[in-house]
Amino acid sequence: MKLFSPLTLGALDLENRLVMAPLTRVRSGRDGVPGPLVVEHYRQRSSLGLIVTEGTYPSHAGQGFPGQPGLVTPEQIDGWKNVADAVHAEGGLIVAQVMHAGRVTHEATTGGYEVVAPSAIAIDGETRTYDGKKPYPVPRALTTDELPSVIEEFVQGAKNAIAAGLDGVEIHSANGYLLHEFLSPASNQRDDAYGGTPENRAKFVVEVAQAVADAIGADRVGIRISPEHNIQDALETDRNDVHATYTALVKGIAPLGLAFLSVLHKDPSGELVQDLRRTFGGPVLVNSGFGEITSRDEALSLVDDGFGDAVVVGRPAIANPDLARRWKEDLPLNTPDQSTFYSDGAEGYTDYPALQH
Ligand SMILES: Cc1cc2nc3c(=O)[nH]c(=O)nc-3n(C[C@H](O)[C@H](O)[C@H](O)COP(=O)(O)O)c2cc1C
Repeated sequence: MKLFSPLTLGALDLENRLVMAPLTRVRSGRDGVPGPLVVEHYRQRSSLGLIVTEGTYPSHAGQGFPGQPGLVTPEQIDGWKNVADAVHAEGGLIVAQVMHAGRVTHEATTGGYEVVAPSAIAIDGETRTYDGKKPYPVPRALTTDELPSVIEEFVQGAKNAIAAGLDGVEIHSANGYLLHEFLSPASNQRDDAYGGTPENRAKFVVEVAQAVADAIGADRVGIRISPEHNIQDALETDRNDVHATYTALVKGIAPLGLAFLSVLHKDPSGELVQDLRRTFGGPVLVNSGFGEITSRDEALSLVDDGFGDAVVVGRPAIANPDLARRWKEDLPLNTPDQSTFYSDGAEGYTDYPALQH
């Protein structure tokens, strides 16, 4: 069972190859400060080889959801310090997922900060804001000149994560948020050097990864992608274009020597993901997405059969704080309760029991 053997990801030495997925749980209040409940939630899960936090915003404009934690204010950084200390005291490792929501938000969530994206194209649908549900707004297209300041937001977020004592960051370039919006030809219709060809669409993500690696050290930086996930209107329906775009991205970041590449794709053992893995050359974490909850058998075989170096586990880690032990010893599991994924308080968050014996 290679899944339970150690693994080195850059500067991070994991005890096992189970990585807690980034899981947005919106329990950090209006000020975006992770409090005692959040500390306890992550502390309980420290026996997973590595924890990736829920998506955290690196700038106010980048906030996607009410109750989401940030990595902007001194109070937020202090809140993350408490999380990092608690996880470290249990012998765990934790990196922050740095997420700019791009157009997947509303000014009634960002506190009036303008909603920005690669192009002025709205998502078809509604978003939850502090003032209730509202249609997604038409975002303002970022100008070429202001892109360096957005890169700087990611850099500052990463520096703040390190200042908080977290072990590194995962750059969120998946699931339809800002960086993914640059990759998808549906959400990126720019006519500057950051739009059009697959290489141009990949360019901004590569520049962000480079800048963050320069700032905190490549061996503490990972990146998450989700090719063909087709979520939040960041559509990628042409396999050739997907292959070209993500190959350009991975070729661009390969020389940086990042700690890991994390890939969410429904077929991790298929050609696309395995091609990207070869191109990347470093450690790759895999997750097969929302379709079916990750099972023990799937996790074991992905690693044993050599399709990924580690497995990213979401819903099973929500419901089982001691998942590493349960899967290692093949013990019974708690069932995740979807109704409390995005609710408030301890219920469904810190009250899933660990096995006592
Ligand atoms: C409640 C919930 C919140 C999530 N939040 C994030 C997030 O903040 N960032 C991210 O990259 N993925 C997020 N995801 C996706 C998970 O990381 C993971 O890919 C997904 O749950 C599928 O894996 P699983 O079958 O092991 O649950 C979220 C998923 C769920 C269920």
